[in-house]
Amino acid sequence: MAEPSATTPLLGDARQENGGEATDNQNKGWIAKNLKVRELVLFLWALLASAAVVVVAVWTQHKSQTHTPGLPAKRNLIFMVSDGMGPASLSLTRSFRQYVDGLPIDDTLVLDQHFWGTSRTRSTNSLVTDSAAGATAFSCGKKSYNGAISIIPPNYEPCGTVLEAAKRAGYTTGLVVTTDITDATPACFASHAVVRSLNNDIAVQEIGDGPLGRVVDLMLGGGRCHFLPNTTEGSCRFDDRDIVAQAKNDFGWNYINDRLGFDSLNAGEDVTLPLMGLFASRDIPFEIDRRNMNNVYPSLSEMAKTAIRALEKATENSDKGFFLMIEGSRIDHAAHNNDPASHVREILEYDRTFKSVLDFLEASSTEGVLVATSDHETGGLVTALQEPGQGPVYNWYPAVLANSNASAEYSALRLREHVAKLGANVEKVSLRNWINTNLVIQGLGITDARDSELDRLVASAQDATYVFSDMVSVRAHVGWTTHGHSAVDVNIYSSGGPRPAQLRGNVENTDVGKFLREYLEVDVDSITEELKDKLAQSADAEGLVASLGSEADHWAEHKVSFEDL
Ligand SMILES: *[C@@H]1O[C@H](CO)[C@@H](O)[C@H](O)[C@H]1NC(C)=O
Ligand SMILES: *[C@@H]1O[C@H](CO)[C@@H](O)[C@H](O)[C@H]1NC(C)=O
Ligand SMILES: [Zn+2]
Repeated sequence: MAEPSATTPLLGDARQENGGEATDNQNKGWIAKNLKVRELVLFLWALLASAAVVVVAVWTQHKSQTHTPGLPAKRNLIFMVSDGMGPASLSLTRSFRQYVDGLPIDDTLVLDQHFWGTSRTRSTNSLVTDSAAGATAFSCGKKSYNGAISIIPPNYEPCGTVLEAAKRAGYTTGLVVTTDITDATPACFASHAVVRSLNNDIAVQEIGDGPLGRVVDLMLGGGRCHFLPNTTEGSCRFDDRDIVAQAKNDFGWNYINDRLGFDSLNAGEDVTLPLMGLFASRDIPFEIDRRNMNNVYPSLSEMAKTAIRALEKATENSDKGFFLMIEGSRIDHAAHNNDPASHVREILEYDRTFKSVLDFLEASSTEGVLVATSDHETGGLVTALQEPGQGPVYNWYPAVLANSNASAEYSALRLREHVAKLGANVEKVSLRNWINTNLVIQGLGITDARDSELDRLVASAQDATYVFSDMVSVRAHVGWTTHGHSAVDVNIYSSGGPRPAQLRGNVENTDVGKFLREYLEVDVDSITEELKDKLAQSADAEGLVASLGSEADHWAEHKVSFEDL
């Protein structure tokens, strides 16, 4: 640090000579007139030297920021998202489990025992966020507009994500979900799109055909249809690109698509990365239904345990650990349907998954943290309901949820299939009896269906999901205020320790995102710069849109609605 004493006086003198009042032109004139060649060389050397000091200082500061004393360099971070789970969901599920398992009134969920804080969830353009803006807050640590997949306003620029930065820093990365792997939450970690409906473009980016190449090492979930060419049955692509074939051939992915393939992973012992496992065309069935189809679909906890073991093995000899995002995706879907029987089973499975992550961290010799939160509440759920025309009742009835053995969604699907099979031969009285026997009594466990309820089901198989949900909710005295999301603060949970202390109390959802990158000590901003540079280079007439989403009509639609707000 000898340079400053040599350089500072020279620069100081120059400032003195100018009296601090010289304009830029006067300044140039002053340099030309007064500096001899030797002085000019000295001056330039001084400038260079002081620049070097600044560089060293910044570098040193950077080093001290990226090296936390006392924390080993190798660490694992598991981030869990309970999509659409608000505080009332916990009270609902806790009491449900106490009822079903005959537990004492002070028995709690594993989640309850790891309550950490609460998160505010609004997006840039609405007090009520969607999952895309919610997940962008986690992935980029930045607020964005509803629908944004790691793109931020006002110029629709991509923001580097914690997963991308983690991969670049040498971490191994994974995504585990129960919905489409291209859905908003996973998409926000591994792709960039101006609007979330661009699932097919997101699929392409997720396998590695995007601005940064392949950033994900392991993906387990649903949404296979976005990876299949439109010439294949069950595809939901608009083009004939075979993304599975491209994933294997161009990016080296190992691919499995069924229970047999999942079982061959031997609980994560026999995994070769990168691995993509897509076990359903779209969503994996709700847990309430899936448990009766266990030979077809793996559960969230099974997938999570397999992913963790696979990532643990893959990083055994690495000086970097892994980053894994696990989403209980369909907690949200059950709430959108206002289906409390499905909602509680999704949350119990999420709670089991949370427990298995805790067990891993406890047994692991590698430093690690689990942080879990929700992107928003869904359904405006309340554990009370005043029926129209009646007084308030100080109770709700978990037995009704316990008796239910099918989701409203699955019951509605069976109804539509049955009606389709009948074709033109629908006879209303026999259809009503069939519904009551097979779907209401056997499926929902409801033995006192009202005529008005059965009439609604006979009249419209399309609305059946909501009707079945209402039948369960009203009997259980569980209330819902919307089929959409709400602005209620959501809970944060953690395995604990000093590191997530910054998430104590009531924080912004972007603080969760900032924690993720800070815990991993990865440079998200340089990824943002790289993304911008690469997009600028590839810009054609449509620029960003062409790079991030070929289905530009969605973009145009979205832009209008965004600017109207
Ligand atoms: C499939 O995609 C190709 C373009 O990739 C298109 O020309 C064709 O019309 C599509 N077929 C169907 C049935 O959508
Ligand atoms: C629940 O439904 C499945 C079929 O979906 C059936 O196999 C099982 O026996 C049912 N369980 C109860 C308790 O009704
Ligand atoms: Zn959501």
